[in-house]
Amino acid sequence: MGYLSLKDVTKRFGDVTAVNRVNLEVERGECFSFLGPSGCGKTTTLRMIAGFEDLDEGELSVDGKVFSSSYKKYYLPPEERDFGMVFQAFAVWPHLNVYRNVSFPLEIRKLPKHEIHERVTRALKYTGLAKQENTYPKQLSGGEQQRIALARAIAINPKVMLLDEPLSNLDPKLREEMRFEIKDLQRKFDLTIIFVTHDQAEAMALSDRMLVMRDGTVQQVDTPLGIYDRPENEFVFSFIGLSNFIPVESNGKGFFVRGAEFSGDPLLRPDKPGKRFKMACRPSEISLARGGEGVEATVARRTYLGDMVDYLATVGGTEIRIQKPRRDALLDEGERCRLTFNKARWFPSQ
Ligand SMILES: Nc1ncnc2c1ncn2[C@@H]1O[C@H](COP(=O)(O)OP(=O)(O)O)[C@@H](O)[C@H]1O
Ligand SMILES: [Mg+2]
Repeated sequence: MGYLSLKDVTKRFGDVTAVNRVNLEVERGECFSFLGPSGCGKTTTLRMIAGFEDLDEGELSVDGKVFSSSYKKYYLPPEERDFGMVFQAFAVWPHLNVYRNVSFPLEIRKLPKHEIHERVTRALKYTGLAKQENTYPKQLSGGEQQRIALARAIAINPKVMLLDEPLSNLDPKLREEMRFEIKDLQRKFDLTIIFVTHDQAEAMALSDRMLVMRDGTVQQVDTPLGIYDRPENEFVFSFIGLSNFIPVESNGKGFFVRGAEFSGDPLLRPDKPGKRFKMACRPSEISLARGGEGVEATVARRTYLGDMVDYLATVGGTEIRIQKPRRDALLDEGERCRLTFNKARWFPSQ
């Protein structure tokens, strides 16, 4: 059993099932992300872990101890769970300086003065705020304010850090920097982190493992690479990175892109039985060349993306996106070309 364990966890708001029988095991010391579109139930799941919401069904335990259970009619209040939390909005107290923003929750817990000082100093040091301890939040940038919230969460010595889109209100450059800082804090404080985001790049960069959610249900739990390379369904594939879904059909002798003439050797080989599929490929997994083997196509559009060139090719009526490094031979718009598919995943098609 994992360190943090969710069994059949369900939450309803009226007719809406926000979280639907979620099963999940998070290991100690792991940085684990919840990824999914807005409204899929990430925050609700996190709030049930924190204890701000009770669950309608299921059980939630940490380190072998039950925290919420519909079976045992048990619910441990949030203040007894020892979790650190950081939210999307910069939740700082404007009338307290940086030091007191971090020390205040510890004062409420009536910790000894010297211990408060030790913990606050350490948390400020590791979040790069030591020099600003006497400053008030309004004099600080958004990034620095979010660091206060992180420092405050760390100073609690939390069992688990729960972060709900903590970087969404920061500008892109700072957001990227903060990702590294959060990874750093995870290592230094040996934290177990649950990180909620709708940003796939953020989840890929931060996570040891991640959960992809849709409509309150678990779609896949895997490492970032596993999610990218071995998506369990179409939703996961299309939510992560750029995707092509190419209709593919067998004529009895071989498979071809639907609507395009079948010619030469069958180049497409599904890894499962069936006659019709959607072949899923990333734009980088398709080769495009002037001649040679492959499926015949036409270059419909060419766009430069810095070091990459983005092509839109058409095969029959199907549009296919392909990305190649700019140093590769260029093809022109309108030119005939050949496509080879270096990697594909096969999904059912009607
Ligand atoms: N307090 C609430 N009352 C009613 N519906 C809610 C409440 N909180 C969340 N929901 C609904 O539950 C679903 C999941 O919401 P949420 O967990 O906030 O999603 P996410 O964080 O993934 O965007 C949504 O349909 C949302 O409207
Ligand atoms: Mg949310």
